[in-house]
Amino acid sequence: MIDLRSDTATIPTQAMREAIANAEVGDEQIREDPTVNELERRAADLLGHEDSVFVPTATMANEIALRVLGEPGDELIAEELSHILIAELGGPAVHAGLMTRPLPSEAGRFTTDQVRAAARKGDLGHVPTTRIVAIENTHNGSGGRVWPLAEVAAMAETCRELDLSLHLDGARLFNAAVASGVEPARIARQADTVTICFSKGLGCPLGAIVAGSAERMVRARRFKHQFGGAMRQAGIVAAACVYALDHNVDRLADDHTRARRLAEALHEAGVGVDLERVETNFVQLDVGSMGISTAAATERLLAAGVRVSGTMLPGVLRAVTHLGITDEDIDRAIEAIPRALGAQRSPEMKNAAATQT
Ligand SMILES: Cc1ncc(COP(=O)(O)O)c(C=O)c1O
Repeated sequence: MIDLRSDTATIPTQAMREAIANAEVGDEQIREDPTVNELERRAADLLGHEDSVFVPTATMANEIALRVLGEPGDELIAEELSHILIAELGGPAVHAGLMTRPLPSEAGRFTTDQVRAAARKGDLGHVPTTRIVAIENTHNGSGGRVWPLAEVAAMAETCRELDLSLHLDGARLFNAAVASGVEPARIARQADTVTICFSKGLGCPLGAIVAGSAERMVRARRFKHQFGGAMRQAGIVAAACVYALDHNVDRLADDHTRARRLAEALHEAGVGVDLERVETNFVQLDVGSMGISTAAATERLLAAGVRVSGTMLPGVLRAVTHLGITDEDIDRAIEAIPRALGAQRSPEMKNAAATQT
């Protein structure tokens, strides 16, 4: 079975398991775990922030960041399909008491003009004050799309001007950095707080980081404890994350190349794939445009040995590459997917193929 459902489908490699087995550990709650301490130092440096806090999941990292940046009754602006708004079970309201203001977007990116128009500032007597803007890079809901660095910087500038805090949900920040060819810190330091996740493309069983200023991270540690996230010998997990920083960041480029190859081959074979949307490790399959329901397409692909998953877009499935997917898996998927979906090459594609020498 070729499991293209998500980059969370990775299984720790033997080398990662050895790093886990050899981890030096201590009591993380009282900051005596040397491996967690090392990971937090390295992550802060890598992200261009003063400090960082290790937590089990990216959801917890996001929720802690929002609690640090806002007070109950404040308003949070975020993209309407962002993980923070649609996949954390109302966490911003539950944990930080935030009002949420969803914005529509192009490819997961909203504009500074939209923020200017939406932000409610000053003493307005009876309306909530906007305090936080959250962006997601890469943006999961739109298919792993990247915020160009200049747009992140412009958003940060606007937030400073409007006295708003900027949170970056960078669960897949390293994919964005690799795809844009910039250091992760150049993107991450634009924001006041940033989340990264180790259990996606980086291949760890769990683990995430929230980073920010030293002062904000003191508060983040308190909320981590209050949310039940303070751990004991967590170096067992942090060792996998340190290993991933050393070995699994640059190789994300391979996942992107494989996704691109899959996308181009499927497009050519007549599967509904918009190549412009393929920027990182996600390929969206518009089976609706082929007259097949997502349920039927998923079943047919499963029977053909390929697992894909649904998206929030009607008629659209996704195939995601990750470190468990090899070139041979992509070859097999390129064969199996068009056949299972009964794809037909368009006349233009046939002509283009015929004129190729
Ligand atoms: C953009 C984004 N942020 C946060 C998360 C949350 O990660 P976790 O499931 O580890 O809490 C995800 C998970 O899919 C995600 O895609």
